[in-house]
Amino acid sequence: MKFTLHQTDTSTAARAGTLTTDHGEIPTPIFMPVGTIGTVKGVHQSELKEQVKAKIILGNTYHLYLRPGMETMEAAGGLHQFMNWSGPILTDSGGYQVFSLAHRRKIKEEGVTFASHIDGSKHLFSPESSLGIQRSIGADIVMAFDECPPYPSERKYAENSMHLTHRWLERCVAFMKESQPKYGHSQALFPIVQGSSYDDLRRQSCEFIASQDQPGNAIGGLSVGEPIEDMYRIAALCCEVLPKDKPRYLMGVGTPANILECISRGVDMFDCVLPSRNARHGVIYTRQGIINIKNARWRNDFSAIDDSATAAPTSQAHTKAYLHHLFRVNELLGPQIATLHNLAFYLALVTEARERILDGSFSSWKEGAMAGLERKL
Ligand code: GUN
Repeated sequence: MKFTLHQTDTSTAARAGTLTTDHGEIPTPIFMPVGTIGTVKGVHQSELKEQVKAKIILGNTYHLYLRPGMETMEAAGGLHQFMNWSGPILTDSGGYQVFSLAHRRKIKEEGVTFASHIDGSKHLFSPESSLGIQRSIGADIVMAFDECPPYPSERKYAENSMHLTHRWLERCVAFMKESQPKYGHSQALFPIVQGSSYDDLRRQSCEFIASQDQPGNAIGGLSVGEPIEDMYRIAALCCEVLPKDKPRYLMGVGTPANILECISRGVDMFDCVLPSRNARHGVIYTRQGIINIKNARWRNDFSAIDDSATAAPTSQAHTKAYLHHLFRVNELLGPQIATLHNLAFYLALVTEARERILDGSFSSWKEGAMAGLERKL
C-alpha cells in the first residue's frame, strides 16, 4: 500500500493525498461508509459506487465472524466477492464492538472472552484470532486488536489499557509477518493509538505506534462521550506526533462539522455510523443545515432534497415533500433515499475539502461552510 501526500495546507494542518490499494485509489481526506455486516444498510453496491461515490467501505470483524461466519466467508472467496464490491474495504478488529455490544466480557493478557449479543455463545478474540478473521474476510486495510477504554477512565486504568493495546499490537505485527493474505491481494495493518483523554499517554501511544512502522495509523478511543474540545485537542496532538508520510485515520468520527475540524487538524480518514443511522431516523444533512424530514414543515416543500451540483442524482430528483411522505407512511424507500443522500453528502463534503486544500482555499472555505453545517432547520 502506498500513500502519496500532494499538499499540506499552509494555514491549517489539513492534507490532501492518495492512498493506493490493490482494489483502487483512495483520495484523502476520505469518509468511509460503514457496512458492518456485509452491507451498507439500505444502499445497494451500484448506488454506493455511482451515487454515493464511495471509494472505500468498512466491515466489522465481530459481526461477520458471528454471521455468516468464516467458513461461508472463505467459501465465497472473501468479502469483496461475497458482497460484489470491487473497491477497497477496511475492517475494524472487533475490539471496539466486543466492548460496545457483547455480553460477559473478560479482558485477559491473551485476549477478550465474550458472549455473543445474538445467541449468548462464548468466544475468544485475541490479536491473532482477530487478524486471522480479517485474513479470511480479506479487507485491504485491517485494524489492530485494541482495547478502547470507556470515558471517563481513571488515569491508571487508561495507562494499563494503553500498554495492553501496545503489547497486543506487537502480537498483531508478528501475526501479519507470519501469515499470508488468502485472496492474492495485499493487506495493510493499521495500529490504533489509545490513551483516553490524557495528553501524555496519547503522546506516548503515538510514539510507540509510530515505532511499529506500519503503512497507516489510527486514532481510537475518541467520540466516546468526551467534551468536543477534548476530542479536537487530542486529534491535533496525535496528528503532530504521528508520521507525516502515512495516512491518519480517526475512528468513529463524526458530524460533518467534526470532520472539517479534524481535517484541519491533520486527519486523513474517517468513518461513522452517524450519516446512515441518522438517515434511518429521518435526519438529513445539507449545506444549509440539518433537516428532520418527519417534521410537518416539509409536508408541502416541493424543493429537491438537495439541489446542489454535487448532490446525488436521487437527492436532486426527489422532493422533500415526497421523502416526508415516505417516512410518514413508513415505507422502506424513505430510509433508503435518506441514507443514500447523507452518505453522498459526506463524500461530496470531503471531496470539496480535498479540492480546497489543493487550491489553497481550505481555511476560508471551511469557515464559510461551518455555520450551515451546524444549523438546525
Ligand atoms: N471505532 C471507534 N473507536 C474505536 C477504537 O477505539 N477502537 C476500534 N478498534 N474501533 C473503534
